[in-house]
Amino acid sequence: MAYYSEDLIEEVISQNDIVEVISEYVQLKKSGRNYMGLCPFHREKTPSFCVSMDKQIYKCFGCSEGGNVISFIMKLENLDFWDSVELLAQRAHIDLSRFEVRSFSNNTKLQKKEDLKETLFKLNKEVGIYYHNNLIEILNSTGYNEVKEYVKKRKFDLNTIKRFGIGYANGKVPLYNYLLEKGFSKSEMIASGIIMENSKGKIYDRFFSRLMFPIFDIRDRIIAFGGRVLDNSLPKYVNSPENEIYFKGKNLYAMNLAKKEKLDNIIIVEGYMDAIALQKSGFKNAVASLGTALTENQARLIKKYTDNVIIGYDQDGAGQDATMRGLDILAARKLNVKVLILDKSDVKDPDEYINKYGPERLKNCLDNSISLVEFKVKKLEKSIDINNIDSKIKFLTGVADIMAKIENDIERDLYIDKIARKYDIGTGPIIKEVEKRLKKASNDEIVIDMQSINRKMQLVTNIRKRQEQYIIALILCKDKKIQEEIFDKIKPEDIHDENVRNIYNFLIDLKNNFDINKIDILSKVRDEEMVKELTEIMYIDLSMSDRNKLFHDVIKNKNKEKLFLRRDEILKRISENITSDEKEILNFELNQIVVELSKLK
Ligand code: CTP
Ligand code: MN
Repeated sequence: MAYYSEDLIEEVISQNDIVEVISEYVQLKKSGRNYMGLCPFHREKTPSFCVSMDKQIYKCFGCSEGGNVISFIMKLENLDFWDSVELLAQRAHIDLSRFEVRSFSNNTKLQKKEDLKETLFKLNKEVGIYYHNNLIEILNSTGYNEVKEYVKKRKFDLNTIKRFGIGYANGKVPLYNYLLEKGFSKSEMIASGIIMENSKGKIYDRFFSRLMFPIFDIRDRIIAFGGRVLDNSLPKYVNSPENEIYFKGKNLYAMNLAKKEKLDNIIIVEGYMDAIALQKSGFKNAVASLGTALTENQARLIKKYTDNVIIGYDQDGAGQDATMRGLDILAARKLNVKVLILDKSDVKDPDEYINKYGPERLKNCLDNSISLVEFKVKKLEKSIDINNIDSKIKFLTGVADIMAKIENDIERDLYIDKIARKYDIGTGPIIKEVEKRLKKASNDEIVIDMQSINRKMQLVTNIRKRQEQYIIALILCKDKKIQEEIFDKIKPEDIHDENVRNIYNFLIDLKNNFDINKIDILSKVRDEEMVKELTEIMYIDLSMSDRNKLFHDVIKNKNKEKLFLRRDEILKRISENITSDEKEILNFELNQIVVELSKLK
């Protein structure tokens, strides 16, 4: 990864207007001096995502995400800091060659984190090759072997094994020694999750006697592994834990392969085996969400490559429920979603279907995938016996709910027609019900209510923390006199909230090296929690308040707090078994504190 000089950061921020950049991803509406929209980082119906043109920052008052244009891209595109800077530089046609490439000599913590990531990629690659070679060796050996049998049973050909980098963890040679020889340290191995250490200090492999599936990111780097047992023992799969490079919901299995194809659509299935079986049979657009419910991140990842998705989850109840949830998340991202219905009920998932009925027949099912609306109606129908009157009403009401959510009028009318005919009910009653709902929905239209947002914001931040945030907010006001007094009177350890304290410490460091009134402070912060915190503070508007009074109040409250703390300590100590001499000294101090406190009232 390239690290550029810090000048590039300022250039990138000034050349990429945050409102313009965010508008490429989120529909924003102007509201006073801010822009509001639906937060791309969590699901919501009323906007709490606020972009400030003046401050060039954003903040969601629902989920507390926040930062500047670089943090937005990092989060949304799932990129590292410098990769995001590069992307934004390209967007603004900034000539990168003008900027010196260098490393983070002045930020060792970040440097270490980046280094660890690189190391983990390397380590995973070594382990991936190791497992893979293991499997190839076993397959080339003669005589009976349970691994060979299993591979045959699952119908994996050599091509597939190579394409997916499938391997075997035999657990015979301790990986620990192997990796040590390759130059990795124990702590790096443990950070990768591949090596574990128990409380007694015993070192062992996470994966053994398992068929191994490396999980690649879209840049073909191994970020994790999943391992399957060869029999029916439990757990069926063991997976790498999350760490610096692996975040479960941010990735899709086999997306690195699928993205290399020309994609009309993407098929999302549940398991490793399903994605592999589909790709092996020529459906190279299959990816897997690996058993977890689809996330916003995955929806965005898909949207980069195609607008059309087919969900092919397991036919059991769990799979169906997961489908339902997935559908809404994908639809909210304006993806065109269809659902694969397997026309045989004696198989559980696409993998079993292909093995039993062949790819041709599956192709047929794929071509007949039903739309989201049809799937919902079908599900509703299954849950209700529409032969009795009461249930029929329930069904109708449910249908109207589903129809009312269709945005396009023509599409809605077509569906109503189709359903009325299919279930032999008149279109009249459905249309009436749908119209009721549409009317109500238009009355509930989103109104941006800054007041309620401010209230929300106050609720999430308790009063003491608020006081501490004021300290930082006051520093950001660029009043030299106040700044000096604060730095003089407030010690970092006086600040209780960890994030605020970190920022305060950071500002102290910064002011020793820069004129903090001339630099973009937010762009110097790299820690995600600190970025969020600082953004929140930047939204505190002190322009109308008497800053000198606020400053004196803050100092006064801090002093009070210290005195109260000391008072409680003394009271506690006095109640303990102590000498009368000590008691006397403490009582004297206690008196003084009481006097001081009364002065501060
Ligand atoms: N899974 C997991 N841990 C488990 C069970 C399942 O992580 N104990 C994840 C795996 O990613 C798995 C997916 O959920 O691929 C779907 O589970 P399942 O349908 O049980 O697995 P399949 O991939 O279909 O595996 P197989 O066909 O071998 O049963
Ligand atoms: Mn399966």
